Amino acid sequence: MRTIQVNASRSYEIHIGAGLLPEAGEKIRPFCPGGLCAVVTDDIVDGLYADRLEQSLASADLRVVKFVFSHGEQGKNAENYLSLLNFLAESGLTRADCVVALGGGVPGDLAGFAAATYLRGVGFVQIPTTLLAAVDSSVGGKTAIDLPAGKNLAGAFYQPDLVLCDTDTLATLPDKQFRAGCAEVIKYAMLFDAEMFSDLMVSGPAFRPESVIARCVEFKREIVTADEFDRGCRQLLNLGHTVGHAVEKLSGFTVLHGQAVAIGMSVIARACAENDLCSPDCSRALDDILIRFGLPVACPYGADALAAAMTADKKRHGDAITLVVPRDVGECVLYELAADELGDFIKAGLK
Ligand code: NAD
Ligand code: GLY
Repeated sequence: MRTIQVNASRSYEIHIGAGLLPEAGEKIRPFCPGGLCAVVTDDIVDGLYADRLEQSLASADLRVVKFVFSHGEQGKNAENYLSLLNFLAESGLTRADCVVALGGGVPGDLAGFAAATYLRGVGFVQIPTTLLAAVDSSVGGKTAIDLPAGKNLAGAFYQPDLVLCDTDTLATLPDKQFRAGCAEVIKYAMLFDAEMFSDLMVSGPAFRPESVIARCVEFKREIVTADEFDRGCRQLLNLGHTVGHAVEKLSGFTVLHGQAVAIGMSVIARACAENDLCSPDCSRALDDILIRFGLPVACPYGADALAAAMTADKKRHGDAITLVVPRDVGECVLYELAADELGDFIKAGLK
């Protein structure tokens, strides 16, 4: 097991390794002096892991109530958020108790936003069960729900008290979901680590999860420590996300978040190569690794549709939008563009 410490507005540990779920009760107990845990999960993860988690919590003398919603991005909505708040209130959860998110980024983001806002903040533990949640969404305190106008438009920065990443849970993850998580892994390599990028090109998806997850989490820890509230370098973590969120939205969320990020990274790198911001070799290397991982690189939407979908993006401020652009493999920078130039810029990146 590896333990990584985050020192942000709240300091907490992230444990990564096999066999952690049975130890969850003992590890969560110190963060739940009131003794009541509200487990929040989706219907698929519920059937796979909730019993094991509940047994572990019960063996640590923790009482459990459980909120289960239908899986998928559509679950991250205002209706579920309100139902969850009502559920916490009806269950009598207090500030001495905690919300435990069990699952991928969807339960994590929804549960986290409820934990941040119910009673103005209660205990919060993340138990990620997707690769994407392990390397990204369970760490760093971004919580959110989607609004009809766009993704993650209502949310809060709220750091967890603890993150338990049991790598055994990845065994049941469908291949398509695992690969979608790989897009976020490739994102970290593209942003910060050319050596990791080369290693991933060799291993493909058969990498050792514990060490790769730990490496990504270490990068994220550094960024979150430096810029918890996303005003500077944390925006680098949005590589591929501006176009990616637009692709997700235009597809009616049939394209998975990780797949959309892969498309977004590819489009931006190609646009950068066309605009002399990076070399064609850099863009090609990114496409090669995405294809090696079975991820999509071709964007099914045109520049006008993408630009329109991007106008509601959080990364827009006034008449400008901040993009993350690669300079080389392992090196990316923030790049400000006038919102009305976005369509033309993106067009250059569409095959
Ligand atoms: P998800 O939570 O919907 O999980 C994907 C699918 O995998 C679901 O159907 C789920 O039921 C299933 N699943 C989860 N764990 C499983 C397991 N171990 N075995 C079998 N099936 C399993 O989606 P995700 O890809 O984990 O996360 C995507 C979400 O995360 C998006 O909403 C995105 O916006 C958000 N996100 C948030 C942050 C952040 O910093 N808060 C960062 C990146 C992404
Ligand atoms: N996933 C982007 C961030 O946490 O900032």
